[in-house]
Amino acid sequence: MDQDLTPVIDAIEQFSAGSRPYFCIPAHRGAQGVDERTLELLGSGVFAADLTETDGLDDLHHPEGAIRDAQMLAASFFGADRCWFLVNGTTCGNEAMILAAVKPGEKILAARNCHKSVLMGMVLSGAVPVWILPEYMDEWNIFGAVRPETVEEALTADPEIRAVIITSPTYYGICSDIRKIAEICHRHGAALLVDEAHGSHLYFGSALLPEGAIAQGADAAALSMHKTGGSMTQSSLLLYRQQEGGRLSGRRLDDALKMVMSSSPSYVLMAALDGARHMAAARGREMVGAAAQIAGRLCRRLSDIPGVEVLQTGDQQQDLLRVVFSAADRGWSGYALKDEIYRRFGISMEMADTENLVCVVTWANTAEDADALADAVGQILMEDKKETAGWGSGRQKIEGQDLQPEMRMTPREAWYAESTAVPLCEAAGMTAAESVIPYPPGIPLVCPGEMITTKTAELLLRYRDLGAVFHGVEDEGLETIRAVQLPEGRKTD
Ligand SMILES: Cc1ncc(COP(=O)(O)O)c(C=O)c1O
Repeated sequence: MDQDLTPVIDAIEQFSAGSRPYFCIPAHRGAQGVDERTLELLGSGVFAADLTETDGLDDLHHPEGAIRDAQMLAASFFGADRCWFLVNGTTCGNEAMILAAVKPGEKILAARNCHKSVLMGMVLSGAVPVWILPEYMDEWNIFGAVRPETVEEALTADPEIRAVIITSPTYYGICSDIRKIAEICHRHGAALLVDEAHGSHLYFGSALLPEGAIAQGADAAALSMHKTGGSMTQSSLLLYRQQEGGRLSGRRLDDALKMVMSSSPSYVLMAALDGARHMAAARGREMVGAAAQIAGRLCRRLSDIPGVEVLQTGDQQQDLLRVVFSAADRGWSGYALKDEIYRRFGISMEMADTENLVCVVTWANTAEDADALADAVGQILMEDKKETAGWGSGRQKIEGQDLQPEMRMTPREAWYAESTAVPLCEAAGMTAAESVIPYPPGIPLVCPGEMITTKTAELLLRYRDLGAVFHGVEDEGLETIRAVQLPEGRKTD
């Protein structure tokens, strides 16, 4: 297919040419009816492109023209049979994959480091999660890749598992061996779904990076083009390929998406997706090459700073454009160092956790950006104001992230159950009715339906004391947690 084409961009341009009367939604009529401050900030082009399903503009929920053509071009570029533009992020892609792959009461094997959207998909679908743990990298206190052997063991132990969902790459840029995992899944009759929110650029044709999940045999993958593919925030792609031995239906995915995606999709976002695919097809390899040089420079400069370690996974596949580093050995928590870098140098990082910082490097960064960050870290550590760190000295493993608490009910049952707020210190033994998710990275420490243990409570308080912000909870201070209310007279299960 001619990857030089941009059907959605062309359709918008054609519709906008000339100023004809227009009696459709949205009300602003291009730039004419917009608040002045908003227009000053966003410019008139964004409003001119903010159109609706009208003449010549096609319909995302029933594509027959420009949107169909743009999705087909994207499918071809990404090596998929079908591609859907997502205007509600990878969040709705993950939900749709789960809705399409498992019915209520059916089992899905899920890696514990999943994003909260995976949990939401389970609540929506009524799926029964069977959790597996990715490799735990003790030294870095993070989850790494999902081992194929772990998937093989789980699927052999439970032949009723219908689908497997894993995150690859992780927020930290660690990739699982999708090829092996896909082969195992298909041999056991399970669909492989990949949350590839952080992996759009793996499809850009560069040998410097691991291959994308679809190319390696996954049945479906959801990609945040807005995160690493050059598109606009909230715009993602869902890819589907009928793999040999695969059991996922493309039609079910299509139906599921219609349940979770807006019926007023943004043409600005669809144009951005069309353009990002066009750019990646034209010069994706070159873009990755440029970004890899900057990331390499940043890694080298950071590694030269005494007390700073840069993540090198060795045996696990890694996205070179994700630079992860830590100064925990010098007494800095990731949270504190991230704040200090921004406060003193105005440099924003993608993410921090208790020990580590994560930088997303793209082709749009410069060598000067890399130097500015390395200089900032060097200066902070040279001055070494440990009292701002709030961390103590040396690495402190946060015990318990690798626990697998007992599941008492499905996330959906827990979500619908009567619940009550109980003091966290008294919650051990009860069943969680809400998720507890330090954000970022958005990985749940507690999932609805699982038993709250003393260890879990300690872990949550440790995170809180280190300055984590929690999503999913009613009480952000974590004095209380919502637990499933038990019948009269029963204190715990
Ligand atoms: C691993 C992972 N999956 C899914 C999502 C959701 O993606 P989106 O923001 O595109 O909805 C995120 C967002 O941060 C994520 O980190």
